[in-house]
Amino acid sequence: MPDDKDSQEKIEVLSRLRYHKVGLTERMKQAFLNVPREEFVLQKHRESAYIDTPLPILAGQTISAIHMVMIYISTHCTDPQIGDKVLEIGAGSGYNAAMFAEMVAPEGSENPGHVYAIEIVPKLVEFAKENIERTGYSDRVTIIGGDGGIGLPEYAPYEIVSIAAASKKIPPPLLEQVAIGGKMVLPVGKSFYQELILMTKEKDGSFSEKSLGGVAFVPLTGKYG
Ligand SMILES: C[S@@+](CC[C@H](N)C(=O)[O-])C[C@H]1O[C@@H](n2cnc3c(N)ncnc32)[C@H](O)[C@@H]1O
Repeated sequence: MPDDKDSQEKIEVLSRLRYHKVGLTERMKQAFLNVPREEFVLQKHRESAYIDTPLPILAGQTISAIHMVMIYISTHCTDPQIGDKVLEIGAGSGYNAAMFAEMVAPEGSENPGHVYAIEIVPKLVEFAKENIERTGYSDRVTIIGGDGGIGLPEYAPYEIVSIAAASKKIPPPLLEQVAIGGKMVLPVGKSFYQELILMTKEKDGSFSEKSLGGVAFVPLTGKYG
């Protein structure tokens, strides 16, 4: 748990997120207070860890802005429940994976879920692993090196598939790996501007779709990039 001064700074950040219509719940707020974002940024950006902006990590990639992470874990997006299995594509720093872990496997839960996070850049696989281990999330988060467009069929299906990199079309293997009733969120579109799409897998295996607005993510690379 952060000390009082840190908590105060974090609560102030959260109060400013209202502008983005994030829809904060108590569980989201607790997750944000529990995960030390400063441990997931480069040493030289620690002072900026609680500014609501993407920050550079390694290999020209970024840790997403705070409001974007909060949107992904919100009730009107993936709506994570305790016990859910999450597949995250684009682990980057590991921060989003740790936030998901707080939502699906909070400490002391009887029926903890798990987060599998795939990262394609080897340097970032190491970075995310180190960050996850140092902050004590290794029992709830597994970082895997590889092409996330292919997914991770061995642990499928997933209640949540969360994609943090943009593609022109949805990688077909990921559609198959969503559980019935499960959700997939991803930015779809060209470089620099995409639409954040939330998909829900219906009982008959079809998907319903909803747009959550415009976003700007780095591109998905690999087979489906
Ligand atoms: C916006 S960053 C994700 C930030 C991350 N969620 C965090 O908390 O720091 C997007 C990440 O997706 C990764 N990426 C791009 N294409 C990928 C692919 N095919 N498979 C796995 N990761 C990929 C990039 O290397 C980058 O680290």
